[in-house]
This record gives sequence, C-alpha cells and structure tokens, in this order.
Amino acid sequence: MKCTFGKQKNLKKYNMKDSIDLIKRKSFFRKNFYCRNSLKNCDLIYSYKIPKDELKNFLFDVKNFVISPLDKNIKNELKCENNWTKILKIINKEKFQNITHNGLFVPKKEISIEYNMMIKSFVSLIKSIGLDKKIKYFIGPPQLRIKFGAKKGKFMPNSSEFAHSDAWTDINTKSCSTLFLPLAGDCTNNFVNFFYPNNDYSDKWLNRRYFKDGHDMIKKYKKINIKYEKTSCIVSDSSILHQSITKQNSKPRLSMDIGIIPKNYKKNNYSFHKNHVPYDLIEKIGKDKLMIYYDSIKKKIKKTKTGSKTQANRRILSLN
Ligand SMILES: [Fe+2]
Repeated sequence: MKCTFGKQKNLKKYNMKDSIDLIKRKSFFRKNFYCRNSLKNCDLIYSYKIPKDELKNFLFDVKNFVISPLDKNIKNELKCENNWTKILKIINKEKFQNITHNGLFVPKKEISIEYNMMIKSFVSLIKSIGLDKKIKYFIGPPQLRIKFGAKKGKFMPNSSEFAHSDAWTDINTKSCSTLFLPLAGDCTNNFVNFFYPNNDYSDKWLNRRYFKDGHDMIKKYKKINIKYEKTSCIVSDSSILHQSITKQNSKPRLSMDIGIIPKNYKKNNYSFHKNHVPYDLIEKIGKDKLMIYYDSIKKKIKKTKTGSKTQANRRILSLN
C-alpha cells in the first residue's frame, strides 16, 4: 500500500545498530498494530485511514456530547450546525464546568447518556479500521480533549506542550501506545509533533517523570514528519515522544487522544492499574451496558499536578 505520509529519511541512520530494547519495541509494535488498514509512517508509528461514513457518524455523536451541557436554546441551534469552528468557539466562550484545565471533557451525571452514545460510535470507528482486534485495555474511559489555541503563562508539570512519552505518567505503562484521533477545528496550526529515539534507546528512558523534566531526553530524539490530519487515526509506541504545538493565532482543535495497551504486551513492562478499562467492556457500552457517572456537572473539577482522576466516580449498569 502506498504510504501517504512524509518521507522518513531521518530514520535511515537508526537502523544499523539498534539496541536490543529498540529491536524488541519494533518487533512488538509490528506484531501488535500491523493490519491490512495500517499505513506505516515509521516502524513505531502507524496510521489508519478512517472511512468517511464512520467519521461522520462519530462526529455527530461527538457533537451531541460536547454541546450537551449548553443552555437548551443554544443547544437546539447547534444541533443542526456542522461548522466546527463555530461550535468550538461557543464551547471556548461558555467555559463549561465539565472541562478540565487541560481541556479534557469529563462525562457527568446529566450527560451520561450522550457520553455512552459517543463511546458506542467510537467503538464502531475502531472496528472499521481493525483496531478492535489489537487493544487489550484503554488506560481510562476514552475522553475528548479541546486544545485551546496558543496560550501565555506557565505550563503545568505534565502539560502536553513539553515533549513527553505517555509512559512517564502513573496510569500508563511501558507497554502502552497512544492513539491520536484529530477530529475537528484547527489541526494545521494546532497539532502534535513526534520524535524518534536514537538507536541506543533503552526502556529505562520510559521511567516515570514529569513531562517538564524531559528536556534531557529530547536530546536523544529526532523530530520526524507525521501528517496530523482529521481523516486519520495515528497509533504511536510509547518509545516515541510527542508534543502539542499551538502556533501563534492558532484556533482550538478537538481530538481524542488515549493510551492503549495492546493484546500482546511484554509482561515485565505492564502492571494493571485500576484506571485501566478492558476493550471488551468499552465494546459493550451503549449496547448491553451503560457507564453511569455520579458527579453533577455543577461540581467543580479539582486541578492537580499530574492531571485529575476525574472519572473515578462512576459505575457500570448492565441492561440485561
Ligand atoms: Fe501525551
């Protein structure tokens, strides 16, 4: 299959004397994520082209979820609106209580049903690109994120503006990969950069640290060209670093970015965390099961150093 992504000329020099850890990474990544739909960007990042209808259906449910906290009149007006620039502008202006400081949309009691419908649609999209057979766990219930445009001031210690691996956080593991799904808004000026490791890569590079403390690590990496576009889903191994870029005058973008544990993982690089949700459960959401949230949309979300455990207060309701 023809690769539609940037030429990976930067990678040639890394193929000669790869460390054992890097060789194992590449081999596991191929085993875990190669399928007939995958486009190889490099040996640690694949992309999947999303069928148009799937994307359209998913965006319909995404919109219903993100506008659900709005006042009834604005909500009714936006139900027929397909201009995402306008929708994101209103969300930005309204400053919803269910959006965290770093832009995560948190499902709440009053909007649980809309969240469940969105997850049902998300599973359908995942199936359409063949990733359903590849994922063992999501590192938490999938969440949407609005990345506001360029901001001034200090970043939080785990701000995605610092180049980082998701494996550096508490709830991820060295076996995780990250799924990037750019959905709407300004993905031209507000996007994600990716960095490929030197050939002396070691799994120790994935030991826990705050993203702000990763500046020494970036010296061991080289930036690579990966197209970040709304019609593709990108999966990148946790040995790849990534970084949010918001150029000056960039507008908000909407995406779903989530850590995933593949079905075949290296046992000593994985430990279960109570936040991890099996794919088999997510697959049933909105069909046989509902994810019900207890906290009201009126309850303020606490700001924490490492990100909030905002989805902890929930239960699963079986429908049969
Ligand atoms: Fe990240």
